[in-house]
Amino acid sequence: MKKLRVELPENSYDIIFADWDSEIFEKTVSAFDRGGRIITVSERKLQKLYPLTAYRYGELFLLQGTEEHKSMEEIERLLDFAVEKQCDRKSMFIAFGGGIVGDMTGFASAVFMRGIDFIQVPTTLLAMVDSSVGGKTGVNLSSGKNLAGAFHQPKAVLADVNFLLTLPEREIRNGLGEIVKYAVGLDRELFDKLEKNCTGLNSLDIELYKEIIYDCCAIKCRIVQQDEKEQGVRALLNLGHTFGHAVEAVSNFEITHGEAVSIGLVCAGELALKLGMWQREDLQRMRDLMGRLNLPSSLKKEWKTDDLISAMMHDKKTESGKLKIVLPTAIGQSVVQKNIPVEIIRQTMEGCCE
Ligand code: GLY
Repeated sequence: MKKLRVELPENSYDIIFADWDSEIFEKTVSAFDRGGRIITVSERKLQKLYPLTAYRYGELFLLQGTEEHKSMEEIERLLDFAVEKQCDRKSMFIAFGGGIVGDMTGFASAVFMRGIDFIQVPTTLLAMVDSSVGGKTGVNLSSGKNLAGAFHQPKAVLADVNFLLTLPEREIRNGLGEIVKYAVGLDRELFDKLEKNCTGLNSLDIELYKEIIYDCCAIKCRIVQQDEKEQGVRALLNLGHTFGHAVEAVSNFEITHGEAVSIGLVCAGELALKLGMWQREDLQRMRDLMGRLNLPSSLKKEWKTDDLISAMMHDKKTESGKLKIVLPTAIGQSVVQKNIPVEIIRQTMEGCCE
């Protein structure tokens, strides 16, 4: 078992990496059990994959687990269920699932009776390397992704890499998009490691994934400790996301988050090149790595540039109606760039079409 501590002024917590062990799970849950009712929140498709009885505590509540249903209506359904089950301020939610379950359960626990505790048990690669750590919670609005939310840190994150063995291949790619983001934007050593280990990554080498997931969580810990509420450096974790969120919206979420981030990384890379902020060789290195990991790298012709730009303008990362985009400046380094003329963004996207 390995641990990483997320040290925050208030609400510090551990990320626990363990091969599934009900003893660790029970110990963690009972350490935070304050005597209230506990609700395990999961999603319908996981019911078929895991014997949820082995993992659940208290009452079980199932979400739809899709972006279309990452909505206020589903949150209300969960909150009403909690009231019906007589939850109170000492109650706790356990998020057992992927990023959508984690974000929604976190948001519900942030608002239920003005805030109760929750634990993250991520079961997907994307949730293990990114969304379960750092306390971002939220839901989509019809006007855009994750536009309603709260910073609410979990009491603990319990990650068992063996869950990856149950995932379809596309789900692994979904997480790999975020892993490449960490490497390109923040960590050259991780980038080198990914380049050297594409075969292991493509063949789901679990020992390798244990190492890479730990590395990504360590990067995220370092960033969140410096800037919990995204007033500065945490914005760098959004590399590829402004373009990516637009791709998700315009494709009606047919493109997964990690795939959209991958396409977004290429758009951000091409934009940085156009603005003279990074080198063609680095862009090519990133494209080569993405190609070897079978990650998508181009915008589809059927997505209209105007629609993509309009979706980008609704992103949380706009400030006073101006786009703020994270751009790579070298492998392992990135900056937040403001006031980029929309015309240059348009030209860049047109050049990124398949
Ligand atoms: N996923 C980006 C962040 O947690 O800040």
